[in-house]
Amino acid sequence: MLIKQSSDIKENEVTDQQDYLSRRAFIKASIAQGLGASLLGLGVTESAQALSKDKEYTLEGDEVTSYKDITTYNNFYEFGTGKGDPAKNAHHLPTSPWSIVVEGECEKAGRYSLEDILKPHDSEDRIYRFRCVEGWSMVIPWQGFPLSDLIKRFQPTSKAKYVRFETLHDPEYMSGQRRPILDWPYVEGLRMDEAMHPLAILATGLYGKTLPNQNGAPLRLVVPWKYGFKNIKSIAKISFVEEQPVSAWTKSIPEEYGFYSNVNPTVAHPRWSQKRERRIGDFFKRDTLMFNGYADQVASLYSGMDLTKHF
Ligand code: MTE
Repeated sequence: MLIKQSSDIKENEVTDQQDYLSRRAFIKASIAQGLGASLLGLGVTESAQALSKDKEYTLEGDEVTSYKDITTYNNFYEFGTGKGDPAKNAHHLPTSPWSIVVEGECEKAGRYSLEDILKPHDSEDRIYRFRCVEGWSMVIPWQGFPLSDLIKRFQPTSKAKYVRFETLHDPEYMSGQRRPILDWPYVEGLRMDEAMHPLAILATGLYGKTLPNQNGAPLRLVVPWKYGFKNIKSIAKISFVEEQPVSAWTKSIPEEYGFYSNVNPTVAHPRWSQKRERRIGDFFKRDTLMFNGYADQVASLYSGMDLTKHF
């Protein structure tokens, strides 16, 4: 049995998880038997695409974390520093209407409505490992689209060396922003080639449902080979810049949080080892994988760099 059930998971949450997983299993099996296109009402090309994407992004041997854990064990300091605070407090945040300001070194700067941002992009399923710098991890079935597709639309100039992201700043709804926990708003950044990597996505949903507020609605970054804090939530501004952005965490504690923040079991955090992790739902710890298991795809982005310096 693929799904772990525990007595504290409510009936409807188990059903959500089973529905989602059996729908995926059904699509996979149908496609494998050549039934996909007719049964699912998809074109032949669509079913072939679904199959190849499935192969690329499904994790063999990694059990998907429960919907309940993914949506109740969160870090989103704008809504409090406790793991349960975002699920309790984030639902007050209005996420519609929503707009995103695009600025800096690009041809198509402006303010875009969320609908404008999402319209041309097909949603894809991506099951990714997620490793928090604190030592826990999950496996999350996201829906989203490649960040690179959105970046191309804004036509960055040759001066755009980095992409900087900012979360909404709204202390009225984000009560955590009334306290100086971080220098608000939350800021993160990627080097342009990292941002253009096909594994980097903007997520709009998980488990086939709209992204819950506590997970960063309406749009959040997912970069699966980096520690969780790079995955900035509720994005309100995207800037194309020449200089390396200073992220909220680097600004706060530069000796602990560097710009790259690639998952790397060989480089310890100054206060703890990063060699092992506890997958939420598991009892025993497991070894952390280089680049969170995505080394084949992303190691070349960092060739020649000293990763103990560029942590
Ligand atoms: N984005 C914003 N705006 N504020 C935050 O506090 N926390 C980060 C990241 N993105 C954070 C954020 C951290 S530390 C982690 S581990 C992940 O979000 C957690 O994502 P999840 O709650 O969806 O698992």
